[in-house]
Amino acid sequence: MIKSLEKLRLEALGELKQVDELKELESWRVRCTGKKSKLTQALRSLASLPLDERRKIGSLANEIKVDLELRLAEKKKLLEENHMASFLKQEGLDITLPGQLIPTGRLHPVTQALDEICSIFTRMGFQIAEGPDVEWDYYNFEALNIPPQHPARDMFATLWVDSEETGDPARLLRTHTSPMQIRVMEKEQPPIRVLVPGRTYRYEATDATHESMFYQVEGLAIDTKITMADLKGTLFEFCHCLFGEERKVRFRCDYFPFVEPGVEVAVECLNCHGDGCRLCGYSGWLEILGAGMVHPNVLKRVAIDPEKYTGFAFGMGVERIPMLCYGIDDIRLFYNNDLRFLKQF
Ligand code: DAH
Repeated sequence: MIKSLEKLRLEALGELKQVDELKELESWRVRCTGKKSKLTQALRSLASLPLDERRKIGSLANEIKVDLELRLAEKKKLLEENHMASFLKQEGLDITLPGQLIPTGRLHPVTQALDEICSIFTRMGFQIAEGPDVEWDYYNFEALNIPPQHPARDMFATLWVDSEETGDPARLLRTHTSPMQIRVMEKEQPPIRVLVPGRTYRYEATDATHESMFYQVEGLAIDTKITMADLKGTLFEFCHCLFGEERKVRFRCDYFPFVEPGVEVAVECLNCHGDGCRLCGYSGWLEILGAGMVHPNVLKRVAIDPEKYTGFAFGMGVERIPMLCYGIDDIRLFYNNDLRFLKQF
């Protein structure tokens, strides 16, 4: 019995040497260590042997079984490695390597701010409208109650496209989104509620708070019986949506030629909550937009009867909002396209 077991082992190991494919290895396993193998049968037949023989032969048979299983595992590993190596040679593709992570993009912080502003006003019933960046003097100034030579032109350092000397109507890069007020009112009859996000340009040296290109959002509402109370209610609501319910909002007189009265809207400083700090210039307030009741001259221009209709308008700079919210102290960072900066938002 012992001899025949040893013979089994030798035969099995001899056969194992010949095996060079995983499929063959499986049939070797079934043949030499499986349920119907001679080895398993020998183990089963132990029961009929006398006790001392059973011990001796049993332990040998077990040892052989363990041995064969160990060799099987070694061989299996070897064959798998060979298989992968030859596969890689053929295919040149290692499917076991972890995949490459595809970097996901994100929205620019200014785009995020624009989206948020637009979403607040569209929920109030404003419609989005967009206009040209290259604008006529007429829309940018004249129709907004800023005739040639008006001192208010100095408020807007203008980038001209055509020279003023030719006598042709002059084109410029719009200095604010307000010209879209005129374009909308030329086309639409009241009631009007529009919101105009867009790029604006100024002929200015850039520094931490000035860029020659920046974004504005303009708003316009025209209807019968619109009053200053509507303006205040709308802009209060906007400030609360953007900066939180608790935030104080301040309205003060200001001058813009296309509104009367004109106001400047400020919110309690996000940093010091009104105590005064560097961010708010120790005033406790951050100015965020200009607004007012649309000037009767502006309505007359577009043949809307100022006796019948009134309205309010507002305009704000967009970059200022993420600057205040995130404590960004240089507007130029938005347009340098340094990913280390942009990835943070
Ligand atoms: N267009 C103005 C500017 O760029 C901002 C502004 C002020 C817009 C008052 C308005 C307004 O619509 O009513 O400085």
